[in-house]
Amino acid sequence: MTEFKRVRKAVFPVAGLGTRFLPATKAVPKEMLTVVDQPVIQHVFDEARAAGIEHFVFVTGRNKAVIEDHFDLQVELQHTLVERGKTEALKALADAMPEAGRTSFTRQQEPLGLGHAVWCARDIIGDEPFALLLPDMVMQAETGCMSAMVELYGRTGGNIISTEEVPWEETHKYGVVVKGADVEGGFRLEGMVEKPPRGTAPSNLYINGRYILQPEIFDILSKQTPGAGGEIQLTDAMLTLAGTQPFYGYTFTGRTFDCGSREGFIKANVAYAMWDREMAENLRPELEALLRDIKPI
Ligand code: UTP
Repeated sequence: MTEFKRVRKAVFPVAGLGTRFLPATKAVPKEMLTVVDQPVIQHVFDEARAAGIEHFVFVTGRNKAVIEDHFDLQVELQHTLVERGKTEALKALADAMPEAGRTSFTRQQEPLGLGHAVWCARDIIGDEPFALLLPDMVMQAETGCMSAMVELYGRTGGNIISTEEVPWEETHKYGVVVKGADVEGGFRLEGMVEKPPRGTAPSNLYINGRYILQPEIFDILSKQTPGAGGEIQLTDAMLTLAGTQPFYGYTFTGRTFDCGSREGFIKANVAYAMWDREMAENLRPELEALLRDIKPI
């Protein structure tokens, strides 16, 4: 069996402005809003770490420095917790931390699009395949989405895009894929269509924010002209790359929440709270009563 270069590094583009979630995201980066007791970015970091990722590259922008602080020691807090014997809190902090030297932070000076943000990581990634996780998208599953993608990559090599089923009548809102022949754990990906007009979607599998890409994407991105919305689009670069390299699709069967939107964020909080047995037991009756009793104003 062919041995493919291992996926060791992951890119987290966190330089977006979060305009859909203003004013909450004026001073607090949307990646630091919490889903239950962890910031959104921690959920996504944990997914990457569980997939065996060893180095975590954050492409940040202005006002995002708190993300770097989140992944650093908070020495005073640490001391106080030790003095007070708060072992559980100390463990929670330790579990959330990357090992020293395993993170890199680079700046996307202007938010010129997702493709441009990914390109900003080129020097840190170098000449190896890498994982890309859109931190808005929080995924709930027993086996993480990226873990399953790394496994598929181990069999196929090439580039991998994660997808998830949506109702056919909603496909016009998403980027969807053209599905080819099945392979073990996935399928050959024959194309991608951004927001297909109603009734024309080639599949009901939308691209849900996780990728494994080969480093040749960086050369393509460096020549990429602005596309939709005047932004450097990652999809345009992937379509060019698909002309010379194989792409495979993985179908995620857990739940994805778009935490960059108000509704997705609320759903993620409920879903993660219900995942915690104790919290679920306490909260479920109260939530049911709220849903029943509260009427829109
Ligand atoms: P989004 O379009 O969802 O993020 O980009 P946004 O621009 O922050 O959100 P809205 O639409 O204004 O509310 C998807 C991902 O790409 C990153 C974002 O941070 C997000 O994680 N991104 C986007 C960048 O890092 N740089 C960009 O120039 C654009």
